[in-house]
Amino acid sequence: MYCEQFYNTTLSPDYSLEVRFMAFQSYLTAPRLFRQLNDTGYSFADKTVADIGTGLGILPYLLRNENALNIIGIDIDRNSLMAALSTTRAENIGFINADGHNMPVKNSTFDIIFLRYIFQHVNLSACFLSEIKRTMKDGATLVAIDIDDSLNVFYPDLPDSSKKLFKAYSEYQNLEGGDRFISKKLPAFFSSAGFSEIKVKPYATVFFKEKDDRCHFQALKNAFLLVQNELEIIKNELFNKKLIGRLEFHKGLNDYFKFLNSEDNLFISKTEFLIMCKK
Ligand SMILES: C[S@@+](CC[C@H](N)C(=O)[O-])C[C@H]1O[C@@H](n2cnc3c(N)ncnc32)[C@H](O)[C@@H]1O
Repeated sequence: MYCEQFYNTTLSPDYSLEVRFMAFQSYLTAPRLFRQLNDTGYSFADKTVADIGTGLGILPYLLRNENALNIIGIDIDRNSLMAALSTTRAENIGFINADGHNMPVKNSTFDIIFLRYIFQHVNLSACFLSEIKRTMKDGATLVAIDIDDSLNVFYPDLPDSSKKLFKAYSEYQNLEGGDRFISKKLPAFFSSAGFSEIKVKPYATVFFKEKDDRCHFQALKNAFLLVQNELEIIKNELFNKKLIGRLEFHKGLNDYFKFLNSEDNLFISKTEFLIMCKK
């Protein structure tokens, strides 16, 4: 099993639901991330690399044998970093507990900075980007990878109750300063902050289940579990903020489960973008 230790962390009762969800997401997305790192065409040898909002450190972990001079994972959440330390067990990765808006790092330190799935959670603020820029050497590379839910395609269409649930989730993320439709906005944001040589690559994950096909059980189960775990973490916030009622929440989730298990042909596609630019 690829990145088995991340899967093991999802099963460990020692960790919070948030950490276990991130471990599951890291485990499921590791093969795509590995491909994306190769596609940058970048040589990491002798470079100082940072991953801001590293979570459980899946990205530094995948770079651990690339002969980088330093690989540093930075995250505001101490619990994630504690789990990252024990999950990655990679002695050549350093972790720093800090807010990306104010990092205890000297000017012009990094040759390459990664920001994966972080812009969907933080405001697109000029001060966040100027702090990132400060820590980059001249000519250094910034790589952002993020989602855009407007490019989620379902055929047949999702049940209305599930659409309502996902809309409530998106509204919640907005209220928290995030944005699930972020990646199409990033190139213009980087350009206005003075970054150059902006390149964009799309990565679609496509799933097709033929009628009466039972073989995709694991992929469907993973798709459901990921969403279920994610929603379980924030469901009380959704109720408190009156974004959705309890009954509607459970109906939306149950109907999504039934949708994934329906006897019909099923087509699901989700797209994220990798955006590279230079300081
Ligand atoms: C969805 S997770 C992504 C984790 C990781 N990049 C990955 O690809 O698996 C977002 C991470 O960003 C971190 N984060 C959010 N705001 C941050 C900030 N202002 N500074 C540093 N980390 C932050 C969170 O603690 C969380 O670990």
